[in-house]
Amino acid sequence: MCGIVAVIGTRDAAPLLLDGLRQLEYRGYDSAGVATVEAGGLTCVRAEGKLLNLTARVEREGAPGHCGIGHTRWATHGKPEERNAHPHLDAGREVAVVQNGIIENHRLLREQLQAEGVQFLSDTDTEVIPHLLSKELKALTAAGAAATGATLLLALQRTLPQLEGAYALAVLWAQCPEALVVARKQAPLLIGFGEGEFICASDTPALAGVTRTILPLEDGEVALLGPLGIELYNAAGERQQRLPTQLKGTDHVADKRSFRHFMLKEIHEQPETAARWLARHFPEGGPDDPLVALPVEAALLEGLQRIQVLACGTSRHAALVGAYLLEQLAGVPTSVYYASEFRYGPPPLGPDTLTVGVTQSGETADTLAALAMEQQRRADHGDPAYRARLLGITNRPESSLGRLVPQLIDIEAGVEVGVAATKTFLGQLLAFYGLAIRLAELRGSRSRSELHGLVAQLRALPAQLQTLIDRLDLRCAALAHEFADTQDVIYLGRGINYPIALEGALKLKEISYIHAEGYPAGEMKHGPIALLDARVPVVSVAMPGRVFDKVLSNAQEAKARDARLIGVAPEGPDTEIFDVLLPVPVVDELLSPLLTLIPMQLLSYHIAAHRGLDVDQPRNLAKSVTVE
Ligand code: M6R
Repeated sequence: MCGIVAVIGTRDAAPLLLDGLRQLEYRGYDSAGVATVEAGGLTCVRAEGKLLNLTARVEREGAPGHCGIGHTRWATHGKPEERNAHPHLDAGREVAVVQNGIIENHRLLREQLQAEGVQFLSDTDTEVIPHLLSKELKALTAAGAAATGATLLLALQRTLPQLEGAYALAVLWAQCPEALVVARKQAPLLIGFGEGEFICASDTPALAGVTRTILPLEDGEVALLGPLGIELYNAAGERQQRLPTQLKGTDHVADKRSFRHFMLKEIHEQPETAARWLARHFPEGGPDDPLVALPVEAALLEGLQRIQVLACGTSRHAALVGAYLLEQLAGVPTSVYYASEFRYGPPPLGPDTLTVGVTQSGETADTLAALAMEQQRRADHGDPAYRARLLGITNRPESSLGRLVPQLIDIEAGVEVGVAATKTFLGQLLAFYGLAIRLAELRGSRSRSELHGLVAQLRALPAQLQTLIDRLDLRCAALAHEFADTQDVIYLGRGINYPIALEGALKLKEISYIHAEGYPAGEMKHGPIALLDARVPVVSVAMPGRVFDKVLSNAQEAKARDARLIGVAPEGPDTEIFDVLLPVPVVDELLSPLLTLIPMQLLSYHIAAHRGLDVDQPRNLAKSVTVE
């Protein structure tokens, strides 16, 4: 949550900071600010709301200097108001700080500082940091230290041990315009090496416009940046030497092309996402070649007794589809946990268990913390059968997840800007299809010809997705008008399509602010059916297979209560019960979620767009949730 940028070099800092923040706006967008420093002192400009407001203010008021820091905020402590926007300053307006993360002991620190006479201007946890730094700087300069980067670094190294919690932060000091310092603990921060400048940011898209040479900071590290070089130190204060690496791929935020929103563009990119993934991981081979090419060592998968998957939000829905596949195709008992719940109530340790963390951003704090806890408790166990078999599934291999787990499946969906996950959901599903088919192949739980048949059908997916998107886009746009006054929607699905009902409801809630719930269709009669009347539409996923007739019966039950029925189902006599049909072609039931997700995404998109809402940046949300 929140994005930070810091630059030092030979160009004006403000435009670089604003460009960087634009690439990080997906991390939070309720307020933003920059501070710059030059010989004349420190300038700080902040604005409530979207980055556009800050940009206009910087253009009007100016922010001179070649060294600066910036922040785009997702509120944790304190309302989204200008006084809570970063950067935060000390009382003398000499020290400016931007921070991503949470300072857990901020209350105690605030009380101690207040007792010393410090007045706070914001409700944030961050504001304690400039005050603490200011104290350290005063003590150091009073003892004769010069106003140099080295002094600023020492003040930071003395301040950090006082902070509990997670942070990535950047600091300016009015007395030293030729230096800035940064630090990270359990929150991402990368340094980019530009030509004649250094740029630091929470994520690679903010660096990609300036350089492709990057150095991710490790946990506990601090760095001093000057126009000519950087110095890197570990938490013990020892100088570190590490070579930078090269950014892979086109890791920058593309434009919307002709689409009205990034979300719509990303929905339309899914045939391409699928084609890329299938070509790489399901290569055409001889009859005896492995069916799936996954970058996962066989030792990780051999002799598995159990799989547990940790994830949040949409990633959890992908995991639920994955669990169905892993159990039904590969025969491995699989449990899916909310990452935020797992950490504080993990199931008893079992031997030969694979733990899979799923997070498109690779930065979700709940998922990372749950995985780290699992890794530790397994490492603590003496018996080798309990060793930590850990696997990550992500769209960002260079993320914190990538550094935490030993093995990773990269879904390679490309940068996703819309806060609502779409193409990354498809990518996660495909990763689970790959994993389940690979495991089924290794364990011999399904015949080779059956698995060959599934893979052959998977290869048809990109074309099917394209046809479906082309066909349903306008239909969903037309249907969206009917939802102008809707307040509640129920989504029903069963079996492998139950998670798709959950995902449809989540998509609608997060971007249209309409209350929606997903239920296993058979569960409706045990309570939720009481909610139904003519004002509550029911979206029912009914795909031919094991539970087709059952879901249709459940839909009939809803119709009998006057609910308007929207079917995500194939055309045919069976599905004439639906008032509106969003037709999906018949495929093997096991593959059907890869198609039924499309009407869910398009329907929620068009309902939100029709309501004139900010589809790509819905209220209260952020793309990457880096706080617990
Ligand atoms: O980056 P992650 O996949 O770990 O994110 C998890 C959730 O925050 C995320 O899926 C969220 O629910 C999305 N906004 C859904 O569209």
